[in-house]
Amino acid sequence: MRMTSGSGHLPMGDDKASPWYGRHILSVSQFTREDVDHVHDVAADMQEIVQRTGGCDLLNGKILASIFYEPSTRTSCSFMAAMQRLGGQVIPINEVRSSSVAKGESIADTAITLGCYADVMVIRNPTVGSAAIAAANAGIPVLNAGDGVGEHPTQALLDTFTIRQELGHLDGLAVTLVGDLKNGRTVHSLARLLALYDDVRLTYVAPDSLQMPQDVVDQVAAAGVPQERCAQPDQVIADTDVLYVTRIQQERFSTPEEYEQVKGVYIITPETLRGAKDDLVVMHPLPRVNEIAEEVDADPRAAYFRQMEYGMYVRMALLALVLGRV
Ligand code: CP
Repeated sequence: MRMTSGSGHLPMGDDKASPWYGRHILSVSQFTREDVDHVHDVAADMQEIVQRTGGCDLLNGKILASIFYEPSTRTSCSFMAAMQRLGGQVIPINEVRSSSVAKGESIADTAITLGCYADVMVIRNPTVGSAAIAAANAGIPVLNAGDGVGEHPTQALLDTFTIRQELGHLDGLAVTLVGDLKNGRTVHSLARLLALYDDVRLTYVAPDSLQMPQDVVDQVAAAGVPQERCAQPDQVIADTDVLYVTRIQQERFSTPEEYEQVKGVYIITPETLRGAKDDLVVMHPLPRVNEIAEEVDADPRAAYFRQMEYGMYVRMALLALVLGRV
């Protein structure tokens, strides 16, 4: 038996009738504003279901193959929790050394294999474009859980859902992105997704060597979004609605010396937030190393732990959508 929600986004009768049925989720560039709003609407329904009953049987009989070639806590666990809360099951491959990948199997062959056993697949891999290769071969919907320094589209959907739930809207916001904007795939996806909304302004706070890649800047500029650089977060904090902090991505540096030069360059403390708006939203995709002092955690404007929870609702929505159940 399927459950329905109060707002009527769930469910449809025929899986294949959904326009989302069988879609891959590879890049935020594939989405319109209406798509993003629909994902958010369904995620809000999922939040309501979880808070009311813990879950439902919308994906009963469906199997998720979840393969992570890079470490993950939130993305991996929230996808597994999402599938299980919807009544589905998971094949988790979080340690590729225990799979035939360790014998040199290609992403394409691994995707064909998992497509034989599962109905939907989630993949994280260090190579840009790896999820697209999996999608071209799996024969089932593939969701990109991070392809190297490329994109992390489900993170951007949960980030925008977080902003919507915290502030009630995504238009007219001043968003400040802090940290490793060169290597942080979450900010590449988030900047592109925010460009779908009206009157958004982006400020980049990053060392010169870790600035936002030009292709992202160009795409965002083409959408008419003003972008500026700033040296320190406290110079723009008073005019910021969303402060999005990222980790310096140590694993992407060629030498330890290069990482040491920028390590700890920005640390958000209660002092940084002095003079910030009362309804500022402080976000971080996590894990954090030391970019946000633990003293900030008690500030009600610190949304990064709520952000993790919102992620599970968004991933429930995406799984249900690409399997045609909503
Ligand atoms: N935000 C994020 O991708 O976290 P994990 O690396 O723990 O999945």
